[in-house]
Amino acid sequence: MIKPDGLSGNYTERIKAAILDSGFHIVKETEVQLDAEKASLFYAEHSGRSFFESLIKYITSGPILAMVLERPDAIAQWRTLIGPTDARKAKISHPNSIRAMCGLDSEKNCVHGSDSLESAAREIAFFFGDSDSETVEHDEL
Ligand code: RTP
Ligand code: MG
Repeated sequence: MIKPDGLSGNYTERIKAAILDSGFHIVKETEVQLDAEKASLFYAEHSGRSFFESLIKYITSGPILAMVLERPDAIAQWRTLIGPTDARKAKISHPNSIRAMCGLDSEKNCVHGSDSLESAAREIAFFFGDSDSETVEHDEL
């Protein structure tokens, strides 16, 4: 997912180039404006955290681009490509990562990545409907 700062900063084409250069296929994409309710559902795992309210404001501050990315070992490979959560750290330790390119700090880090097969299935269903979650699970098994 390209977050609002990624889209508003006009990083979409550079992020997509990095995606394709790294051997991913962009299977589906959709641009969505999340409201607070949907964003809270998407990030429900963080609902008790001190940064939750700020995260919801950030993620609803403009449209996001949700994508289904496909390649072998996609989850780990994508998380490596985006770099650490804190974009300030990414700029030092992973200068070629996407968050180093377009992120700002530990919140405004311009992209999201599913952290497991389960969350990928849930998040694909969230944006694209339930049928894709089945496909992903079967492809990976
Ligand atoms: P994401 O879920 O967005 O791919 O990021 P992540 O796994 O690297 O990090 P996670 O711990 O899941 O946090 C989700 C998002 O919440 C914001 N955040 N803000 N202010 C803070 O300390 C803080 N910590 C996290 C970031 O936007 C982070 O990506
Ligand atoms: Mg996460």
